[in-house]
Amino acid sequence: MTELKTVNNFPDHDNLIILSDREHLAWANDLLSSDELDYLHAKAEAKVPFLTFVWRHRLMIIEFISSKDTVHKQLESARMAGAARIQLLRQYKLETASLQNYSKLDVVAAYAEGLALANYQFLKYFSDKTKATSFKTLNIYRGALGENDVKGLSALIDAVCKSRDLVNEPQSFLTAPQMSLEIEKLGKEAGFEVTVFDKAKIEELGMGGVLAVNRGSIVPPTFNILEWKPADAKNSQPIVLVGKGVVYDTGGLSLKPTANSMDFMKCDMGGAATVIGAMYAIAKAKLPLHIVCLVPATDNRPGGDAYAPGDVIHMYSGATVEVLNTDAEGRMILADALHYAKQYDPELVLDFATLTGSAAAAIGDQAAVYMGNASDSIKASIENSGFEVHERLVQFPLWAEYKEQLKSDIADIKNLGGARAGATTAGKFLEHFTDYSWLHFDIAGVAYKHQEDGYRIKGGTGFGVRLLFNFFKNY
Ligand code: BES
Ligand code: ZN
Ligand code: ZN
Repeated sequence: MTELKTVNNFPDHDNLIILSDREHLAWANDLLSSDELDYLHAKAEAKVPFLTFVWRHRLMIIEFISSKDTVHKQLESARMAGAARIQLLRQYKLETASLQNYSKLDVVAAYAEGLALANYQFLKYFSDKTKATSFKTLNIYRGALGENDVKGLSALIDAVCKSRDLVNEPQSFLTAPQMSLEIEKLGKEAGFEVTVFDKAKIEELGMGGVLAVNRGSIVPPTFNILEWKPADAKNSQPIVLVGKGVVYDTGGLSLKPTANSMDFMKCDMGGAATVIGAMYAIAKAKLPLHIVCLVPATDNRPGGDAYAPGDVIHMYSGATVEVLNTDAEGRMILADALHYAKQYDPELVLDFATLTGSAAAAIGDQAAVYMGNASDSIKASIENSGFEVHERLVQFPLWAEYKEQLKSDIADIKNLGGARAGATTAGKFLEHFTDYSWLHFDIAGVAYKHQEDGYRIKGGTGFGVRLLFNFFKNY
């Protein structure tokens, strides 16, 4: 974890990172020698993206920020620059740096965010402890960003890292019951309430979707309820978040075809990690909103008693589902959670899930797919949050015609659509279990990175935590 601190004075000894407009360099006149100024002006004209030199026995980084881009692009460029520069700080084994803003742009928080998120590591399973990053603390000059802003940013970054940890944990550790323990730990830290239903309670309630998926497993499922209900909540009906918590997806009896598609399926609780991380940030920041979060959790694997293609499952809602592919398990457990959400008479329900390869195939790793019946203004607002935090969203259709594909010969609905429009047919299946204002986010393409991409380093990305936090801050 990178500590973010506010400092009052221009630091005397620390390494320096200065954000500057390329065209306005007057700030440097009091600071640099005439040789150094010549160098700075020459490099600024040469259009290099940044500059480093040793200044009074410390590292000075000058980061040129372009004012010509759109605000959203400026923010993302600043994050990416912060992410790139942490590599340099780590290479020189530096522990701290101080950030000062001499540009006119409001990108300090974004730069710090990119830097801190890129400094994230998941080292739990390494024997070699020297792999740990040298970089510990980023001091942010008070003139650049207020103390409360820094605190809020810190909590958010912390939440993203917690979310990434959950995704990066393999099922050899993070079973469904273990995930419940982790949620309880996070609840204590951040201040939200946690209720965990064990298998007996899930059976008593008749959550047939969760139980069906769990049948091949020797580890019991859990159903987790997180609640943040501050006294000053602005909404009288809660907002409900739902996250797919499949801690490992082998496909079950419809076993995934290649090792290649199974070997990163520890990420199949990415939706759960998103909503848990968001709850953590929301509670830490004490946002004045009543929010409930539901996480059905299990692994999905073959076994002597595993649910099988052709089975008909009695769901929690009372509906019957013909299972035609046990690898379409996410929608089975989400259906029970979406039905459970009805009892809250929610104002809005948002579900996050690594639901379909189809969503990932359609738009790759640059955006998440979303769909649903929420109002145009809610859709516009969440899309805008997506651009602001660079967790972009693309809306897919949810038209009635697509439901034809889910007609079963033997039950109310089947869990498998045709060969095409797989993200949408999955959405149509979920919709069957909703009766409220709702959006579904398919994050299969973005929850887990196979290649480093700036501050979204390899592995769990924590996608959606910053999106939700931004959306609720402006809600
Ligand atoms: N967990 C997978 C979806 C997935 C794919 C997540 C790639 C992350 C990366 C999901 O449970 C699944 O297997 N979906 C099937 C559905 C199909 C059988 C209708 C798929 O997308 O192939
Ligand atoms: Zn699956
Ligand atoms: Zn899955």
